[in-house]
Amino acid sequence: MSDAEAHHVRVLRGKRVLLGVSGGIAAYKAVTVASRLTQAGAIVDVLMTAAAQKFVTPLTFSAITGRPVTTDMWGQGQGQILHVTMAREADLFLVAPATANTIARLALGLADDPLSATALATRAPLLLAPAMETGMWENPATQAHVATLVERGATLVGPMPGRLASGAVGMGRMAEPPQIIEMVRKVLGRKGPLAGVHVVITAGGTQEALDPVRFLTNRSTGKMGIAIARSARDFGAEVTVIHSPLQVSIPFGVHSVPVTSARDMCEATFDLLPRTDVLIGAAAVADYRPATVAEQKIKKKDDITIQLVRNPDILAEVGRQRKATGRPRIMVGFAAETEDLLANAKAKLEAKNLDLILVNDVSAPHSGFGTDTNQVTLLDRWGDVLPWPLLSKEEVADRLMVWVARQLRGQSLADLGA
Ligand code: PMT
Repeated sequence: MSDAEAHHVRVLRGKRVLLGVSGGIAAYKAVTVASRLTQAGAIVDVLMTAAAQKFVTPLTFSAITGRPVTTDMWGQGQGQILHVTMAREADLFLVAPATANTIARLALGLADDPLSATALATRAPLLLAPAMETGMWENPATQAHVATLVERGATLVGPMPGRLASGAVGMGRMAEPPQIIEMVRKVLGRKGPLAGVHVVITAGGTQEALDPVRFLTNRSTGKMGIAIARSARDFGAEVTVIHSPLQVSIPFGVHSVPVTSARDMCEATFDLLPRTDVLIGAAAVADYRPATVAEQKIKKKDDITIQLVRNPDILAEVGRQRKATGRPRIMVGFAAETEDLLANAKAKLEAKNLDLILVNDVSAPHSGFGTDTNQVTLLDRWGDVLPWPLLSKEEVADRLMVWVARQLRGQSLADLGA
């Protein structure tokens, strides 16, 4: 992997994040955000409004980030006005919590405290995590200010519905730190190597109904597909995941199309096809479904026989159509195998008209269904074979996105190296 690609893989490392903290009770959660960003290798400079300092002290943030916290406009550093220097060097300006007052001030372009002055000076993307009472959030004044900022390119994470500082329950709760970090990654990756590319991923094990309470499924949790979705997003792609019920959550900044059965998944995939640049089949799609679905719960009696009929093969059908339309530009499949790995995977690659197949030995320990790691071998349509060592599913996903980015530039597996 080149340095540039490794840079995108490790999205947060070395990134300069300005964290503007304004005065709301959610300021305490900004400490966790600062901590997680710092632990991920980002350089976090915190700017606090006077009101924020009523909730959390600057010392808390400087202890967490290992860097001085800016609380007044006139701090100097090496002959320069500090907030101007920070504004120039920033990769991202995150405001968490963003109160109604701060949002209004940013929309108006005021610049009489370090947070607002730096926001005005910087060219870095602005990410806002609003937090306020429901009435303030829904007020047309706030909505107009938010619309103005979004129109100028700002991104919002939240607010969320939930319990508010007043004890009331409603819209206005700040997004949780993990959700904010997900959006930080998305915004930082926006100009990445997959910017402008729509990546569609199938994930999870489909469910094939037997009766109103039972279904046939498999051991897929969705971990592999979701790791790919997160990585594609971090590489700057627009990402849609078509997924059956999963055991992992859908990352922020990724479109979700929930489905249940193989036929639903097939329909959703074809619906999106005209807008799909890259299709990645990580789902364990049931090859068969019960021939009939009982209308009532099947009663316990003697042995029963269930007749199964074939489900559509989603990738094979897309692959056939692709010969005529040229879409999607890139198609990647996975092969879940327990024997004759390479021969079986090669047959699937050809039958489904794929560019690449990742074969995982699902009987090997730490690999395949439900694990956090995966050991895959790549086979491409030109006959190149590349085994990867046992890696985390995130690392498999990141390496796969490097392959996709290179493929879009016309490079092959042979260029990728181990
Ligand atoms: O979800 P996890 O718990 O993280 O587990 C990950 C995984 C093991 C499910 C994943 O790594 C994986 O191997 N996914 C593909 C599983 C599978 O269905 O393999 P297959 O060899 O049966 O199918 C080959 C390819 O065709 C796959 O890309 C599959 O999505 C696709 N397919 C299969 C059948 C079908 N009817 N339609 C399809 O599109």
